[in-house]
Amino acid sequence: MLKKTCSNAVVMFALMVLVTGAGSASAAGSDDQSAPGAKKPLVAYYSRTGNARMVAKALGKHLDAEVAEIPSEKGRGIFTIIGEQWFWGDDRQKPFEKKLQDYSPIIVVAPVYLMQLSAPGRFFIEEVIPDGSEVYVFTTSGGPLAGFTKKGIEELVAESGLIAKGVYGFQAGKTQEVFDTEVADFLKKTPVR
Ligand SMILES: Cc1cc2nc3c(=O)[nH]c(=O)nc-3n(C[C@H](O)[C@H](O)[C@H](O)COP(=O)(O)O)c2cc1C
Repeated sequence: MLKKTCSNAVVMFALMVLVTGAGSASAAGSDDQSAPGAKKPLVAYYSRTGNARMVAKALGKHLDAEVAEIPSEKGRGIFTIIGEQWFWGDDRQKPFEKKLQDYSPIIVVAPVYLMQLSAPGRFFIEEVIPDGSEVYVFTTSGGPLAGFTKKGIEELVAESGLIAKGVYGFQAGKTQEVFDTEVADFLKKTPVR
């Protein structure tokens, strides 16, 4: 009887050591951005008229992240946009300037056109970001980000072999200063890491 009680105690102790050890391993794991060699976030944006660029700059500032433009080679008038959005025409892009494997998460900022993410954002997600990367998408749009547009972007990210960490929208038509404040407020409530 005493032997059984002792062996139960040993098993309990071993379990406790295992559980505590596992907890501290994950705390010191890849989530800790201050750990040596930890990956830094990167903001990659496409903007035609400046709003997505301002949101990207604000995210870069508040997350202490590098910011780089998605190098679309196409000029974009209304007919090109309609063609790309309704007929799923692809963008054409120069090679991206950063080695994306070195960054995490990758934060894509791009406008919504005709209720879908704009072609440069879609192409970047589908063709450029390495499989398995953790990805956030921030959109700019004339109105609030519609639920089905958000869902479509989440599906696009997942179907591209990436991990969707969040899809969020900012309304266009503001100054850099206002976007800075909005982004700072947003990040207080919704940590991006
Ligand atoms: C052809 C076209 C289609 C657009 N479609 C939408 C739309 O479906 N929903 C929306 O809220 N905004 C729409 N917009 C507004 C854009 O999303 C907004 O102008 C954009 O976020 C500006 O981004 P930028 O300044 O970085 O280019 C559209 C704009 C254009 C030019």
